[in-house]
Amino acid sequence: MTPPTPVRAIGLSGSLRKGSHNSALLRAAVELVPPGMTLEIVSYDDVPMYNHDLVHAPGAWPESVKKLRDAIAGADALVFAAPEYNYSLPAVLKNAIDWASRPPQPPLDGKPAAIMGSSMGTSGTIRMQMHFRHIAVFTNLLLLNKPEVLVTKSAEKLDAELRLVDQPTRDLVAQQLLALAAWTRRLRGEK
Ligand SMILES: Cc1cc2nc3c(=O)[nH]c(=O)nc-3n(C[C@H](O)[C@H](O)[C@H](O)COP(=O)(O)O)c2cc1C
Repeated sequence: MTPPTPVRAIGLSGSLRKGSHNSALLRAAVELVPPGMTLEIVSYDDVPMYNHDLVHAPGAWPESVKKLRDAIAGADALVFAAPEYNYSLPAVLKNAIDWASRPPQPPLDGKPAAIMGSSMGTSGTIRMQMHFRHIAVFTNLLLLNKPEVLVTKSAEKLDAELRLVDQPTRDLVAQQLLALAAWTRRLRGEK
């Protein structure tokens, strides 16, 4: 049997804080990728707020923006892990998406992706994820539909070192990554 073709994914967290439960979720995802898939976390905290004045001459774009766009363009798939802020995406992640959505050759266009999120309360970021899906339409991000990863009461699922220790959540993350790998290969026309 031919082995599956490699899927190289990158992960973006929607939270900048050191103790972020969503960054912890993304770190767990790195450990849970299926065979044939890799996941590298990309930090983008130096990306400035979007300013259209900076995009008139592509060569003049900020280095941090070029780095983020190149990382997205070079990835086979994207994994987002984000908290819900005021029923929506954190501004830092929306800002990164705005930069990555602009021509020439918008790197988000046609990119397979999965979204996961964790909240300390009981919503599990469902409203943020529905907003994310709305944004995915215009940016033409090809978001995986299922399984959804909605982590509730996140503090109970992490240990003191912010390792994801809740087995059902680990299993769900692993299932989503497996589905993302299959989705990516399907979009490549492999199956
Ligand atoms: C500005 C702001 C808005 C928030 N809005 C929501 C919200 O709408 N729904 C929710 O469940 N939690 C909300 N929270 C709580 C965060 O989702 C929670 O603190 C989460 O764990 C933060 O993610 P992190 O641990 O990855 O930083 C909000 C927090 C902040 C700072």
